[in-house]
Amino acid sequence: MEIQLWRKRLAPYELAVNEIVTKFNHLIYERHLEGKYSPMQRVEGRVKSISSIIEKMQMKNVNINDLETEILDLAGVRIICQFEEDIFRVKNAIGKRTDMKVIKEKDYVNIMKNSGYRSFHLIVEYEVNTVDGPKKLPVEIQIRTLAMDFWATVEHSLNYKYRGHIPEFVQDKLINASNAIIVLDREMAAVRDEILDAQNYNIVKENLVSDILINLQNLYKVASRREVLRIQSEFYQVFEENDIEKLAHFARQLDKIAEGHGAQSLS
Ligand code: GTP
Ligand code: MG
Repeated sequence: MEIQLWRKRLAPYELAVNEIVTKFNHLIYERHLEGKYSPMQRVEGRVKSISSIIEKMQMKNVNINDLETEILDLAGVRIICQFEEDIFRVKNAIGKRTDMKVIKEKDYVNIMKNSGYRSFHLIVEYEVNTVDGPKKLPVEIQIRTLAMDFWATVEHSLNYKYRGHIPEFVQDKLINASNAIIVLDREMAAVRDEILDAQNYNIVKENLVSDILINLQNLYKVASRREVLRIQSEFYQVFEENDIEKLAHFARQLDKIAEGHGAQSLS
């Protein structure tokens, strides 16, 4: 097949990858806008290169006419997560999307491949609109942690170097490394809870501060200037102590004061 024809045939896959990467990146953006943790850390995508496609077709004895139905990773998207449990949150979220349908799932996270490879794989069906009309096509989505991605990248290079025949002693080392990554990811899971706690703490704190400032602003309209300045300087003191309990207590007290002045519902 001529290069031009290859390009035309792969164009819808190009579109699918671009659309999905944009959509997933937007989810990360939305999370960050809300000041929240995103289970997806990074998203990348690619259309399989023509030479890799030819190689795979020859290896699997695939006829050019069956390309689209036999080779399911022409379009590939990779989602990198920080923590192992994020993989399953992302996978569940994809399962609920209305713009793609999961048609195949492979859990190499819990069941490592013989090589030591770990990742969660999904094949989804995704529709793009091309000049020739709508077209449904398969997209392979790989979801893995940063540590699993590091392993897969190194192993991929070694496979390239040894042309698929990695010597046994290197293979053994790779399996050891993969087992070490299981331990590493489990250890990091404990740190994940710490991160979520910290993020939650920040949200609670920001909400309290915002409530306090609204009350103070309203009090300015009805209470004496001296009283408001006294409360304000008290707020700065409590804020400086960085104790969420004390801040919450202060917010409740201020609520009562504002209520006493009938200032709570002022906007
Ligand atoms: P193929 O893509 O033809 O292998 O289809 P399959 O049904 O065997 O899919 P599988 O889930 O085994 O692999 C799909 C993709 O996962 C590959 O194209 C690689 O990107 C990745 N992968 C699978 N096994 C390995 C591995 O041992 N090492 C690395 N580095 N990547 C792997
Ligand atoms: Mg395979």
